[in-house]
Amino acid sequence: MKKIMIIDGGPRKNFNTASMLQKFAEGAASVSNDIEVKTVRLYDLDYKGCMSCMACKIKGRASNVCRFKDALTPVLDDIASADGLAMGSPIYFGQITGRLQAFLERLAFPWLSYNDYSMTAPKQMPVVLMETMNGSPEANNSQGYGPMLFCIEKALGKPEHVNAYNTYQVKDYERFELGGFSEPAKRQYRDEHWQQDLQRAYDAGRRMAQDIM
Ligand SMILES: Cc1cc2nc3c(=O)[nH]c(=O)nc-3n(C[C@H](O)[C@H](O)[C@H](O)COP(=O)(O)O)c2cc1C
Repeated sequence: MKKIMIIDGGPRKNFNTASMLQKFAEGAASVSNDIEVKTVRLYDLDYKGCMSCMACKIKGRASNVCRFKDALTPVLDDIASADGLAMGSPIYFGQITGRLQAFLERLAFPWLSYNDYSMTAPKQMPVVLMETMNGSPEANNSQGYGPMLFCIEKALGKPEHVNAYNTYQVKDYERFELGGFSEPAKRQYRDEHWQQDLQRAYDAGRRMAQDIM
């Protein structure tokens, strides 16, 4: 049995990021019954970012999986033995959410060797990184995964990016103080792009599953 881990770094259960990741999961699951697809919603878990406990760097007992015990422990163990990894986040102030950043600190600090500055995960695997945002492909402030991208690429392999732009932030623009947005323009963009975005997420899931089978 192969395993694909999906990490949802957004707070909303039924909105853009969750929908993209759900389609990715459906695409992956459609390839074979021999693939377990596990989705973890970070906002449902009580955990810390890296506590700098240095337990992963103790001489003779160094570990490339975080040793700090909390609700993230089983998730990090699961990823260590996974065959593929997808992560998704809404863009908040130009970056992935703080929640996903805290998760990535715990994932990536144990990969880093201070002896030779190499980055070594327990296992390399295909990675898909998703972002959803208000910005457009032409004009956005997203630095996405930022410096963590370098760590992910070094330790796991070059990721595939699947982004959704100019997303609907609320269902009904009339109800909110969102005067900077034109609802008709948003609707037109969504009508033209959203199904394709979901399809790209689904296709990425299928590709990853085919890749690891
Ligand atoms: C706190 C906050 C900050 C945001 N900052 C940005 C931003 O800097 N750039 C951007 O393009 N969209 C920004 N957005 C919009 C969201 O990224 C966008 O609506 C996203 O698709 C929401 O994902 P969700 O529907 O999964 O929650 C922000 C939204 C919130 C709530």
